[in-house]
Amino acid sequence: MDISTLQKARYDYRPKLPQVLTLPLGKIGVQRGENTESAADQRDLKLLFNNTYGNPVVEFVEGESTVEKLKLNVGVVLSGGQAPGGHNVIAGLIDALKKGDGDSKLLGFLGGPSGIINNKFIELTPGFVDRYRNTGGFDMIGSGRTKIETEEQFEKTLETCLKNELDAIVIIGGDDSNTNAALLAEFFTKKNAPISVIGVPKTIDGDLKGEMIETSFGFDTATKTYAELIGNIERDADSAKKYWHFIKLMGRSASHICLECALRTHPNIAIISEEVAAEQMTLQEIVRMIASVVVSRSENNDNFGVVLVPEGLIEFIPEMKMLISELNDLLAEGQSYYSTLHTFEDQSEWVNQNLSRDASYAFSSLPNNIQRQLLMDRDPHGNVQVSRIETEKLLIEMVTDRLNQLKAEGKYSGEFGTQNHFLGYEGRSGFPSNFDADYCYALGYNACLLIANKLTGYISSITNLSKPAAQWKAGGAPLTMMMNMEQRRGKKVPVIKKAMVELDGKPFRAFAAVRDEWAVKTLYTYPGAIQYYGPDEVCNVPPESLRLEQNT
Ligand code: FBP
Repeated sequence: MDISTLQKARYDYRPKLPQVLTLPLGKIGVQRGENTESAADQRDLKLLFNNTYGNPVVEFVEGESTVEKLKLNVGVVLSGGQAPGGHNVIAGLIDALKKGDGDSKLLGFLGGPSGIINNKFIELTPGFVDRYRNTGGFDMIGSGRTKIETEEQFEKTLETCLKNELDAIVIIGGDDSNTNAALLAEFFTKKNAPISVIGVPKTIDGDLKGEMIETSFGFDTATKTYAELIGNIERDADSAKKYWHFIKLMGRSASHICLECALRTHPNIAIISEEVAAEQMTLQEIVRMIASVVVSRSENNDNFGVVLVPEGLIEFIPEMKMLISELNDLLAEGQSYYSTLHTFEDQSEWVNQNLSRDASYAFSSLPNNIQRQLLMDRDPHGNVQVSRIETEKLLIEMVTDRLNQLKAEGKYSGEFGTQNHFLGYEGRSGFPSNFDADYCYALGYNACLLIANKLTGYISSITNLSKPAAQWKAGGAPLTMMMNMEQRRGKKVPVIKKAMVELDGKPFRAFAAVRDEWAVKTLYTYPGAIQYYGPDEVCNVPPESLRLEQNT
C-alpha cells in the first residue's frame, strides 16, 4: 500500500490522554457515584433490565486499583457508518490491554456485528494496529449495519465469546448499536456469563449525547471537513458573485452537523430541522423565507449566497412527514397491486387516488422529480429512503418558482443562478482531527479499564472535553441511564434516546442571535483545512457547539 506523507507523519502522533489515564494501571482507582435512573420510562426499563438497570456512574481517579486480573481477552467491533477516529479507539484499547499484561489478546470482529454472530475475526497485534494509528476510516476490520437484537443472535454472540474465551466485547457504534450493547449486557448477566459489554459513542451525526457523553466521536472531524468545504464555496460565491449554493449536509435526522457548520462558516441561511418542526413550518413557508433573503440580498446587488440544508429536513416538515408516513403505509398495504404499475404516471395516479386529501395535495405540490424519488427509491422494508431525497434541489426548484412569481409582480429584479451540493461521505473517513484522535484513543484506553474493573452495560465516557486533554475526566456511565421507551415498527421498545438540537441550548441560541445579520450581509468565515501542526488554538480545538455549551 502506498502511504501518503501525511499518513507517515501521523503515525508518529502520540494522542494525549486525560492525566488520570497516564498513571500506572495499579494506581488508577474507581470512584462510584449514586445509582442512576433512565432518561424516562423508569418502571418499564427496570423490568426489562432487571440485572443491569441503574448502576452508578464511575470515575477513574488516582488511588489503589482493586483489579484482580489484567490478562484479558477482548473482542472489538465497529458498527454502522464510518466516523473518523475509530482506529484510534482500537489503538487505545490494545495499548491499555498490553500495558496491563503483554499476553492479553484483542480480536477484531470483521464487517461489523455480523462478524461476532458468525465468529469471523482477526487477532489484532500491536504491529498490525500501528499501521492504522491516527488514520480515518474503518478499514482495519470493516463495519456493517447488522444488529445483534434477537434472542438467536444473542445466543450466537455468547457462543462466539465462549469459544474464544473472551472477557469482554467492545461495541463501537451509534445509538442503536449501544442500545444493543445494553441488551447484550443484560442477556449475558442473566445467563451468568462473566463477559463485559462496553459501548463506545460513535457517529458523525452528533446525536448520541447526554450528561456523560458530551459528544460522539467523529463529529468534530466531519464538521471541520464540511466547514472547510463550505468556507471554500462561500469564498467562491463571494468572488464570482453569480451563484446561490444550496448545500445539503449529512446527519440523518438531527441537525447538529448543520448547526456546527453554520457556527463555523456564517452562511446566509442554515435551516435547523428541529426548529422547523417546533414552529410547524410548511414547505411553502421555508421556500418563502429563503426567497425573501434572496430578494433582500439582490437589492444590494448581491445575487449570490449560501444555504445549508440538513439531510433529514423533509421528515420534519409537518405535511411531508404526514405524506411520507401515508405513502409508507399505502405502498406496504397495496404492494401487490402497486407492483403491477410500471409507469410513473400510473403509479402517481393510483397514489393520488388513495392518499388522504391533505397528503394528496402535498404530493401534487412537489416537483415531478421529487414525486418520482418518493415513489421509486424505497428501502428493503418498502419505506421511502428519505436521505436519498434531493432536498437541496427541491428547494432550488421551489424558490425559483417563487422568485419568478415575485418578478412577475414587480417585487424582484435580481438573478438567481444556482448550484447544489451534498456533503456527506467526504467527511466520514478523513484523518481524525487532533481532538478526535485524542478523544478516541482515550475512549479506547478507558474501555479497557472499565473491563478490568468488571463493569458491564457501560459506555466509555470521557468528559470536560472543552478543556485541554490532560484535564479530561475518564470513567463510565451505565447505558440504561441514556434510555427510554419508543414506538418502533408498531412495538414499544427500549432505546437510547436520540439527542436532537435543543432550541433553548446555547449553540442554537448563539446562532439565532446573529443569523439575520448573516442573511443580508456577507459575513462568511473561512475555517480552512484541519491542521495537525501549529499553535494550540489552530490544532487542538473542540467543536464550537461544545465550547459554547461549556462556556469556554
Ligand atoms: P451512524 O449513525 O451509523 O453513525 O451513521 C450516520 C450516517 O453517516 C448518517 O449521517 C447518514 O444518513 C447515514 O449514516 C448514511 O448511511 P450509509 O453509510 O448506509 O449510506
